Amino acid sequence: MSSQYQREPELGDGLRLHLNENTGGCSPKVIEALRALSPMDAAIYPDYGRVNDVCAAYLGVDPARLLLTNGLDEGILAAAIAYLQRDPGPATGRRDAGPVSDTSAPEGLIAEPCFGMYADCIEAVGGRIVRVAPPPDLAFPLDAVLAAITPRTRVIYLTSPGNPTGLLIPHTAVHALARALPDGLVFVDEAYADFTDAHFLGELGAAPNVVVGRTFAKAYGLAALRIGAVVGDAAVVARLRRSLPPYSINVAAAVALEAALGDQAHLDAYRAQVRASKARVYAVCDRLGLAHWPSEANFVLIRVGDRATAVVEALRQRRIFVRDRSTEPGCAGCIRITAGILAHTEQALAALEDILCAVA
Ligand SMILES: Cc1ncc(COP(=O)(O)O)c(C=O)c1O
Repeated sequence: MSSQYQREPELGDGLRLHLNENTGGCSPKVIEALRALSPMDAAIYPDYGRVNDVCAAYLGVDPARLLLTNGLDEGILAAAIAYLQRDPGPATGRRDAGPVSDTSAPEGLIAEPCFGMYADCIEAVGGRIVRVAPPPDLAFPLDAVLAAITPRTRVIYLTSPGNPTGLLIPHTAVHALARALPDGLVFVDEAYADFTDAHFLGELGAAPNVVVGRTFAKAYGLAALRIGAVVGDAAVVARLRRSLPPYSINVAAAVALEAALGDQAHLDAYRAQVRASKARVYAVCDRLGLAHWPSEANFVLIRVGDRATAVVEALRQRRIFVRDRSTEPGCAGCIRITAGILAHTEQALAALEDILCAVA
């Protein structure tokens, strides 16, 4: 992957509030399940039938409509491979690929600001990235996205709740886009759906060219194990499956997912912490006069102004890592802070207030 979506530099110990990870850790049941793996479990190629059925039942979908992936990143890549590849040309000899700005290339549409993987995956398979700029309030620009659809549009990547905004995309907007792109794919990235009650899953029956992407990295705390899912029409899911290697999920991720889904109490407790943390972030922002967006996810986008980069650096000096989003479209002056375990949030907010008072 090229430009935007790179691995973060290794930061060492500190309070990690920059990648929207689970700041409390996964369920202890996951660790038990990992410990129970046997030498033979590691020695044989994994079987996914059971975890697929368990996850499908958990999500309330038919197992044929579910594709488990090596993180949601892999689901995003699968969509690009399946829908955006150009004709590769003859098997031998030089492929006349042309530059990525080639106007005949299949197009992938993204509404900025958004997760960097979309652009990188579109580009990696030879597609052309079409970017829609945000309005000042960062609300989803449905009319502008509709207007950007062309006969070459193959995929529209949407994020709800959005990253970095935490804002939802109305279901009516997703349906409108699906109708406008009958031969393409609308990919609704719901990486943060576990923190909200608004999901598109229940709407999929009426929108066969829409898929929903999920990750178990965030609310379930499995980021290091790499497990995600794509749900959609069985034929579309089969098409995505064909674009991936057969064993991309390792056995540790498979048993971890099953254990995590079985510990609803752990999930609910973490979600309660996230809600309490967001309330504290809003309260402190209001007191300090900082603009922020009401988030349906486990993070908050805050406008701290021209000092954004200096604030992120000052927090880093204190081993508190938050994300500088100030160079993203529409996000001038903004930082994004993960809202997880309340005590972590309180620590970060105290440091933020201290720093802002010092630089004011
Ligand atoms: C919007 C969005 N989609 C997908 C992902 C990637 O999820 P995973 O870790 O499961 O690959 C992230 C991770 O930060 C994200 O923010």
